[in-house]
Amino acid sequence: MNNFFTQDLSQVDAVISGAIDDEVRRQQNGLELIASENFVSEAVLQAMGTPLTNKYAEGYPGKRYYGGCEFVDVVEQTAIDRAKEIFGAEHANVQPHSGAQANMSILLAALEHGDPILGMNLSHGGHLTHGHPLNFSGLNYKVSDYGVSRETETIDYDELQKKAEETRPKLLICGASAYPRTIDFERIGEIARSVGARVMADIAHIAGLVATGLHPSPVPHCEYVTTTTHKTLRGPRGGLILCREEFAADVNRRVFPGVQGGPLMHVIAAKAVSFGEALKPDFKTYQQQILANAKALAETLTNAGLRLVSGGTDNHLLLVDVFMDGKGITGKAAEKALDEVHITVNKNTIPFDTNKPFVASGIRLGTPALTTRGMKEDDMRAVGGMIAALIHEPDSEEVKTKVRGQVAELTAKFPMYPARGKG
Ligand SMILES: Cc1ncc(COP(=O)(O)O)c(C=O)c1O
Repeated sequence: MNNFFTQDLSQVDAVISGAIDDEVRRQQNGLELIASENFVSEAVLQAMGTPLTNKYAEGYPGKRYYGGCEFVDVVEQTAIDRAKEIFGAEHANVQPHSGAQANMSILLAALEHGDPILGMNLSHGGHLTHGHPLNFSGLNYKVSDYGVSRETETIDYDELQKKAEETRPKLLICGASAYPRTIDFERIGEIARSVGARVMADIAHIAGLVATGLHPSPVPHCEYVTTTTHKTLRGPRGGLILCREEFAADVNRRVFPGVQGGPLMHVIAAKAVSFGEALKPDFKTYQQQILANAKALAETLTNAGLRLVSGGTDNHLLLVDVFMDGKGITGKAAEKALDEVHITVNKNTIPFDTNKPFVASGIRLGTPALTTRGMKEDDMRAVGGMIAALIHEPDSEEVKTKVRGQVAELTAKFPMYPARGKG
């Protein structure tokens, strides 16, 4: 046998295999609170690390530009069928390599170059692909934006209606990266229809909650629904598009050949496996626990004197104002202090932030990853206590040493990937 097909990574590439082992250990030994991250199952990892990566399959099941696609057709059709079943959608495209490429495909499907769009401001919780000037969405379309109200820090739908009437967008974009409250997709659909616009709902963050009925679904109200597959949905890194049958051909044509070439069949296999997991009853239990954990964390942080944007959370994430008008520390300083004790978060602007995005006044915390590890409300209260201690005393070596010990003790109770990260 040609040993090319039998070699073990650790024997042939010490640099990469060492870095992978280090990263697995980092995930095991730290508290992962980045709201957009999660841990996939060993089954999803196994589907992804397969010779399916070798296969070119431009086109769609049954209509490919390459021979030998009979088995990858099974894989992709299974992923499509499961995605449709999860979300009650008429059509699914599982090929987008990422959330950004899913969104790009929709903008190409719904718009002509230069058309007006209305998206949520990035610093109020939106995403780069919703019209940021440095992103393709801002470079190619005429962008107006909407945000949250100063008083409630939640979307002001009356204001959005006014903005839509003033700017007459062809596409209204909703969904967010850092918005802790329920989004009223029905109302947004009505607003769009009142001005003759279509809607793209980007549910990248909340897809798992939508899949299990724990957040209202945009599918009946919005022409296009996009998502990543790797956040609350707990699949491999990638994108997914859902729409009604009437838009299917247009959407497919914009994904391939519009934006992409060959689909990543090994990733699509992993998407199919994760969609299968999402269809099982215990996936709903998992999503309910994400919510309960976020509430417990929110309560602990509030009781410890920290301010939560909008006063709390309805979903998997919270935005903590750690700056508090100069009385606290910056988001950047908080991220660094927490990193030093192996608690991973990201700094994040808060609405009407007075600090620049790279400094920011807030941190964003999410519970999907720790919930996957099996942590519950009591663990979240402990984690909240650790975070608050660090934010109140970011320079105290005594606090850091103590919290490092607490992190080590807690993470040891919730092991991950026993077959990986050796040495
Ligand atoms: C709302 C939203 N849309 C799209 C994306 C982009 O996804 P990706 O990083 O896979 O391109 C993200 C990623 O964080 C997101 O939060």
